[in-house]
Amino acid sequence: MKIAMLGSGFIARFYAESLHSQRRKDHLVMVYSRNEENAKRFAGDYNLPHYTTFMEEAIAHPDVEIVLISLPNHLHEIAVGVCAKFKKHVICTKPLGRTAKEAKRMLDQVEKAGIFGGYLEDLCYTPKFLKSMASIKRGEIGNVLWTKSREAHPGPHSDWFWDKEKSGGGAIIDLGCHCVEIGRNFIGKNIKPLEVMCWADTQVHPIEAEDHAIGLVKYANGAIGQFEVSWTFRGGMDLRDEVMGTEGTIWINSFLRTGFEMFTTGKGGDGYVAEKAESNTGWLFPVGDEAHELGYPHMFTDMFNAIEENRQPLETFYDGYVVNAILDAAYKSAESKLWEPVILEDWRGDEPEEHQKKWNSHDEDHYLIKEEILPNGDTKLILRHKQTGVVTQKVTHGKE
Ligand SMILES: NC(=O)c1ccc[n+]([C@@H]2O[C@H](COP(=O)([O-])OP(=O)(O)OC[C@H]3O[C@@H](n4cnc5c(N)ncnc54)[C@H](O)[C@@H]3O)[C@@H](O)[C@H]2O)c1
Repeated sequence: MKIAMLGSGFIARFYAESLHSQRRKDHLVMVYSRNEENAKRFAGDYNLPHYTTFMEEAIAHPDVEIVLISLPNHLHEIAVGVCAKFKKHVICTKPLGRTAKEAKRMLDQVEKAGIFGGYLEDLCYTPKFLKSMASIKRGEIGNVLWTKSREAHPGPHSDWFWDKEKSGGGAIIDLGCHCVEIGRNFIGKNIKPLEVMCWADTQVHPIEAEDHAIGLVKYANGAIGQFEVSWTFRGGMDLRDEVMGTEGTIWINSFLRTGFEMFTTGKGGDGYVAEKAESNTGWLFPVGDEAHELGYPHMFTDMFNAIEENRQPLETFYDGYVVNAILDAAYKSAESKLWEPVILEDWRGDEPEEHQKKWNSHDEDHYLIKEEILPNGDTKLILRHKQTGVVTQKVTHGKE
């Protein structure tokens, strides 16, 4: 694919590194930046034939087949509008919108124009995540009951993130979008998110938005998706996911502990360690190939394959819209201190049904509550009578 990059900042460079690495055939051919010097520098760094300070020129350029939005949150909708006007495929960084209303308008524009709309949720494409999803889909951890996704760091790197109007909020919109979509994937995207309970506060930074929040998303099948997000965390970037199922558990650490540990006195140099690392001396936790660990190459491969195969990618504009709707409910709940409904005017998954609980039977008359081998070798079975509800235990001494 021949790609136009909109923006030349932090994520634009991460994406460019991913796209131009390892002899990939999909290349950037154009960059738009409002600042000519930045556009020129970016074009030079990545050997691009074209650069411009006009967004429309970048999108409409005849060499451009797909547009990659790497602009601040308040510019996503404007950029998608121009892509729809010129009927150019579009892939947009996270969050899709600042609110569900904004995201829905973007979704509608893409669908009306008949163009491809990919949502660049990289953390749903990390190698560890993809392998976890494959295990979950094979049923290896049973029914997913609870997921926990945490993203925390000391705060973002540009002014606009800290301006509620431009960003749409604080840590919830910036980091919660990742965590919520991770939870949705684990629990099942066809399962409707029903309501959200969220605590949020501004604990450290002198801003209007929240810099710390914890939330629970309740799904129609009874599963709970927990998110923990912070711009107040010290010590780097903490990216961890946990999944608990009826038959198993998965724990993932995507960044602070990837199996690479290093010590330096700092006398030999003072280089870059990893995104948001707060120190470059002492014991360090570098990340081998950040772009790969964060999922970018797998994400772009899925996006471009999806276009060629005329199918949806794993992460779509519709997913971005559902994430925004969940985050809207989180913001409402942080204010009201109540469970708030997730309002989805456009729901494309299963209709919510009564959660059917299926208990494990021990025999015709009893359910099995629990089985455990004790330190003395005995096996204890805790049972509940199906009719009377009486709970009893049965002990087997050693091996019979
Ligand atoms: N893991 C991820 O997927 C990830 C990580 C970081 C950022 N992001 C997202 O990427 C987007 C950009 O974030 P970033 O970290 O690159 O920010 P950044 O500040 O580093 O870069 C933003 C770019 O937009 C340009 N810009 C700013 N205001 C503009 C305006 N009014 N008009 C035109 N251009 C303007 C800047 O000059 C810069 O080129 C955001 O939506 C952010 O949420 C995603």
